[in-house]
Amino acid sequence: MNVLVIGSGGREHAIAWKLAMSPTVDAVFVAPGNGGTALEKKCENVLADVDPETASGQRILADFAEKAGVAFSVVGPEAPLAAGIVSVFHSRSLAIVGPDKRAARLEASKAFAKAFMAKYGVRAAASREFAVASASGSGFEDALRYVKTHFSQTNQPIVIKADGLAAGKGVVIANYFTEAEACLRSFMKDGVIGEAGRSVVIEDLLHGKEVSVLAAVSVQNGEGVIAPFIAARDHKRRFDGDLGPNTGGMGAIAPVPDFTEAAQADFHASILMPTLKGLKAENVDYRGFMFFGLMTLEERCHLLEYNVRLGDPETQAVLPLLDSDFADVCAAIVDRSLTESRLAWKQGAVCAPVAVADGYPGPYRKGDPVMVNGAAPNGGELSPGVKLFAAGVRMQDGNFFTSGGRTLAVSAYGVDAESARNEAYRALETVRFDGMGFRKDIG
Ligand code: AMP
Ligand code: GLY
Repeated sequence: MNVLVIGSGGREHAIAWKLAMSPTVDAVFVAPGNGGTALEKKCENVLADVDPETASGQRILADFAEKAGVAFSVVGPEAPLAAGIVSVFHSRSLAIVGPDKRAARLEASKAFAKAFMAKYGVRAAASREFAVASASGSGFEDALRYVKTHFSQTNQPIVIKADGLAAGKGVVIANYFTEAEACLRSFMKDGVIGEAGRSVVIEDLLHGKEVSVLAAVSVQNGEGVIAPFIAARDHKRRFDGDLGPNTGGMGAIAPVPDFTEAAQADFHASILMPTLKGLKAENVDYRGFMFFGLMTLEERCHLLEYNVRLGDPETQAVLPLLDSDFADVCAAIVDRSLTESRLAWKQGAVCAPVAVADGYPGPYRKGDPVMVNGAAPNGGELSPGVKLFAAGVRMQDGNFFTSGGRTLAVSAYGVDAESARNEAYRALETVRFDGMGFRKDIG
């Protein structure tokens, strides 16, 4: 069969690579893909200039899926899902892995997600929603009053979240009233992140360690399952020791040693099952992937957020550990034959540090040649069990050039976490581009 992957990051490279491994897959088309997918076996980059967030782009993608006889398409990022690509494909009887637009609001609107969590008893931080366009029109003043009361009662920081999609710029942890006030003003009054920030959710700060649980979801007509993947951990700060600015992710590990069996059981009972109940009750069509962003403290989990897709860079750490045929898993998601036991995992661990361009997450340099052992990369396999997943990398005349902030990840398998880490950093030393930066403490 032929399949289509939509997206251009490291996550999509990992998805395409894993799908291409399936003996039943003949061709993986990637729209638009990147330098890494251009080199991948069985993979072909297509539709370079098509925007999957627009109606016309979605039509072109559906036309392509039809013509190429694609068995199913997999959507990598959230924005096309929030923009309704799934119903466009369904209206033309094309199979697609992703939630419908209504379910995609679990990521696209924090207020919607929090209301869903409260309605179905998913354990999460206590929160309040404030909208500039509220009936009273006093959302901003109400939010200010709320944080003022908070800081008069406690010196705990408070978390302010823009309601809409804000590309990682929508969450601020305010330590003082003045910080909270400045944030609320910039989001709600000045519109510095556009419409996304006109409404906010303000929630209590949670303590603990973050864990990412990705999952396959197959829910339709009030029935179905959520099958969780092995857990992963992202490292969001730019510098070693969790210092510096937030990024899209500086590296991931899987599994997570401190996500104990007791914590997993708590996640299952307090978060996964109520979520499944909610998806069934709301009668959404959710046949795709889900990402539970958790805060765990002493084996008790709280849900920080839902994403309606796989995580980046978590996917680059988790998919190499999947022992099942990924194309079969995607087909089972779509045709509703998914069961929890469908997913089998390898023993061992993966460490996947990310290499970034100089300046990232601020303005960064681009166009530097990427070398592996002093030569142009000839494929993603650096050595057995060690894979280079390209992200901000484009290919030109057989050479790789940097084109994005998060440039690539090296994803190394090991029998345990320590050997995975050693392998990953040994391999990363063979990769070079001018201005390359990375964290030395992933895992
Ligand atoms: P979110 O987009 O909701 O996952 O928030 C982004 C990041 O902000 C999370 O990965 C956490 O690091 C942090 N964060 C969000 N909500 C909270 C909270 N209630 N308590 C502590 N940290 C939080
Ligand atoms: N690694 C976090 C995310 O994919 O949103």
